[in-house]
Amino acid sequence: MLFAKAQSDLVCKGVETDEELRLANDLMAKVHMADYFSALHWLETSGAGYPSFRREHTRIALWHGELAGSLRMNTETIRLGEARLKTGGFGWVTTEPRHRQKGVCRALVLETLDYMRRHGYHVSLLFGIPNFYHRFGFATALADYAITVELEEAATIPHLTHQLRDAKPGDIPAIQRIHNANDADVACSAIRTCAHLTNKWTHLAKTVRVLANDQGKVVAYFMARKEGARLAVDEAGVSEPGLCEAVLAACARKATDEMVGRMQFLLPPTHPLARFLLQYKSTHEMRVTHDEGGMLAFINLGETLESMTPEWERLVAASSLRDARAEVTFLIDGEEYRVRAHCGAVDVAATSGRNRVSFTAVELMYLVTGCRHVEDILASRRRILSSETRDFLGAIFPSRAPYIWTFDRF
Ligand SMILES: CC(C)(COP(=O)(O)OP(=O)(O)OC[C@H]1O[C@@H](n2cnc3c(N)ncnc32)[C@H](O)[C@@H]1OP(=O)(O)O)[C@@H](O)C(=O)NCCC(=O)NCCS
Repeated sequence: MLFAKAQSDLVCKGVETDEELRLANDLMAKVHMADYFSALHWLETSGAGYPSFRREHTRIALWHGELAGSLRMNTETIRLGEARLKTGGFGWVTTEPRHRQKGVCRALVLETLDYMRRHGYHVSLLFGIPNFYHRFGFATALADYAITVELEEAATIPHLTHQLRDAKPGDIPAIQRIHNANDADVACSAIRTCAHLTNKWTHLAKTVRVLANDQGKVVAYFMARKEGARLAVDEAGVSEPGLCEAVLAACARKATDEMVGRMQFLLPPTHPLARFLLQYKSTHEMRVTHDEGGMLAFINLGETLESMTPEWERLVAASSLRDARAEVTFLIDGEEYRVRAHCGAVDVAATSGRNRVSFTAVELMYLVTGCRHVEDILASRRRILSSETRDFLGAIFPSRAPYIWTFDRF
């Protein structure tokens, strides 16, 4: 395999000129979508206007001045309880077919990770092809969830008392409020503003229906589309749990109109509607893949751990360590980070301390996101740990169900 080593052969950078942008969009649209024109249209409109997106976020690799690779990074804020992490997403990662297997993508990904590091990103996120991104430190942390409900039982729900109609742009603030309220317990979910909904509205509008009360106020919504023999409900939201039945009835009505006998709700297990559906005949699936799918990597580990402080204080306050002193020191790839709790206050410092425990960056990502259980990570190698260490790790690393909604993927 020939690798692009010399700096002068291969240059990676953000797009600067209109021509560079045109060539990059052309390459990404050609490689990524069967429908070139709609892909290009998306890149030039919604893609360009996505919140916080800047021209230099289209990053390119030039081989002797010729475009050899391109990608788009976007900026999200993900939520882990009380913590907020500035997240750089990778999308549309492409190497021009003639330049593949020469290290072009490797150089472009590394350069983009460096850009993110220089611009204060905590972590990076992507939805990856199999066996590719682990080499850059990405760990699979996000799962997919699907709850399948046959129409038969749902169709017997009494007649809807709410008004059911297609969503309009004026409903965006209500939809955003309901989504954010339902989303508080969804780990890693991207924080969505009205600007995110507005940006994707033209692609979305046909799939969104709202339920309004007798004063016309939007109290619930769902996003659904026919997919083969089922109705795929990508998202739903309720302003109070009592409305779940009405949403289910509305989805059943849409499934009947579409002449499909089955509904599939793509909802994480903590969502109110996912919990409500437990009382129906339903199949609840979780799909986890290794080294592909929703993956995360640390960009700046020290800053990430520091940003976890509000969430760790909340967790310590709810644990038996509430009034105690506790300390643990993470050894991650030769670096040490001390985390201390004292009467509920947590501090993080890049220094050595007591109760040293060694993790790989991937293991630490599993712990921070909660996608794997702390006991299992600790059991993966022989360790002698004090009870203080175990209790502290148990308190700050609860298991969670990290998820990014279909709507927020890129
Ligand atoms: C995937 C893609 C971007 C790789 O680009 P590339 O420039 O050929 O990759 P590189 O030469 O930098 O390869 C880096 C490493 O990944 C490996 N690799 C290359 N393509 C791969 C693939 N499709 N799957 C898994 N590994 C791959 C290389 O063998 C090399 O391995 P090494 O670390 O052991 O040396 C390119 O094949 C492409 O554009 N594919 C179509 C679009 C796509 O699938 N993009 C990814 C979207 S998430």
